[in-house]
Amino acid sequence: MKITIIGTGYVGLTTAVVLSYLNHDVTAVDKDKHKLSLLHEGKSPIHEPGIQSLLDEVCHTIRFTPSVAEVVPDAELIMIAVGTPPKKNGEADTRHVEEAAREIAEVCHPNRHYTLVIKSTVPIGTNKRVAQVVDTVFEERGIQGNISVTSNPEFLQEGLALQGAFYPDRIVVGANNVNAFDALRHLYQPILEQTFDPPTFLPRPAAYHLPPMMTTDPNSAEMIKYAANTFLALKISFINEIAGLCEDVGADVTEVARGIGLDSRIGPRFLRAGLGWGGSCYPKDTAALLGVAAQAGYEMPITEAARTVNFEQRKRIVEKLRYVLKTLKGKTIGILGLAFKPNTDDVREAPSLDIIRQLVAEGVNVRAHDPIAMPNAQQALSEITIEYCEDVYSVSHNADALLLITEWELYHRMDLRKLAKQMKTPILIDGRNVFSPQDAMDAGFHYIGVGR
Ligand SMILES: NC(=O)c1ccc[n+]([C@@H]2O[C@H](COP(=O)([O-])OP(=O)(O)OC[C@H]3O[C@@H](n4cnc5c(N)ncnc54)[C@H](O)[C@@H]3O)[C@@H](O)[C@H]2O)c1
Repeated sequence: MKITIIGTGYVGLTTAVVLSYLNHDVTAVDKDKHKLSLLHEGKSPIHEPGIQSLLDEVCHTIRFTPSVAEVVPDAELIMIAVGTPPKKNGEADTRHVEEAAREIAEVCHPNRHYTLVIKSTVPIGTNKRVAQVVDTVFEERGIQGNISVTSNPEFLQEGLALQGAFYPDRIVVGANNVNAFDALRHLYQPILEQTFDPPTFLPRPAAYHLPPMMTTDPNSAEMIKYAANTFLALKISFINEIAGLCEDVGADVTEVARGIGLDSRIGPRFLRAGLGWGGSCYPKDTAALLGVAAQAGYEMPITEAARTVNFEQRKRIVEKLRYVLKTLKGKTIGILGLAFKPNTDDVREAPSLDIIRQLVAEGVNVRAHDPIAMPNAQQALSEITIEYCEDVYSVSHNADALLLITEWELYHRMDLRKLAKQMKTPILIDGRNVFSPQDAMDAGFHYIGVGR
């Protein structure tokens, strides 16, 4: 199929390279000149495992352009994958989605049918609003255009984006007409039937089953995305709430999570106590869902509580540091990990940013390390001065405490004994429960985890 994708961020670029790999004819559009110049050189602007290899494979067929007018008229299917950042009041800002829809409607041919797919995460009712935007432009142009607006929420996880795109659990499509379902079924056929040869670095998981394509109405499709993210967010907040109580009563939350996760009704995933969630999805999507509820005059105390518990984790960890160091002012604290999770360079709403800002405000000298996300963190924290270190051992040198925020694989393999020896006071606050407390203590650390 001839496809245009608007937006080459984490979702747009992943979708573009995967669909190109599956032999669709893909052009991706972005307004960001820096991203485009990297893409024109064949370089991925985002860090995502495997994306550069896949881009190398498809670079002779995929095209990147700043111009909607150049590519949309000839496309069969157009996907909108632009950002939907939070407004000040938490509601999702759909300005970029509507702007993209307007630009598309301004240039499409009057006599052709197009499927317009909304991939961005959008508040319930956006599908209808986008259809109105398109109709208004057609009226202004004095033409009878033919665009089916379809909702196809994206469920990929950063760090595992390609895996999620090639081997999804399900594909959700919301539309009001059967042609749109057919178009999406055709688009995703190689994935639905798993007829493609997997990339060498990403074999098909052994126990993988063919994913269903769930068809529904647009409002429900939009709601499914918010409900899914909110459920995952509250599962993590739940275990963090239990972790707090474990600390007070002398239980170990990692054992509790293991015990409840073995119940097949609960399952083991998303039960890892720690510093909670960040990133570009859960904070924004839970806030946006509350915004949708507020407009409907509906209360969502469970979602509110999930957010409260989550953001409290960032303050609790600073309190742990204060408790163990007695005073924070003038102390040197080493931070391990800045990305909101491992295997990504994304620092949007990362716990590290809040924690570092709190520490600096208290007069702490902060040193930080991250294998990938330091440039993005430097940009996000441009208003404050901290020291960025190229390796973990420079972070710990003469430090009063170490705080692990992101569970990058390389931190699991650190030489704890060497780290402890270098420090002024060997205190390790393990914000993700990565280490065995006994191993850390044997290495000479005063160890503090979360809920254990
Ligand atoms: N990042 C994730 O893990 C993830 C997962 C699922 C869903 N989503 C949702 O997908 C959407 C995109 O997220 P993202 O993380 O890829 O965002 P992003 O910020 O990484 O990328 C968005 C891109 O769209 C471009 N853009 C904005 N307006 C444009 C326009 N009018 N024309 C052309 N390009 C335009 C921007 O320059 C940017 O490159 C959001 O709604 C998000 O909530 C994200």
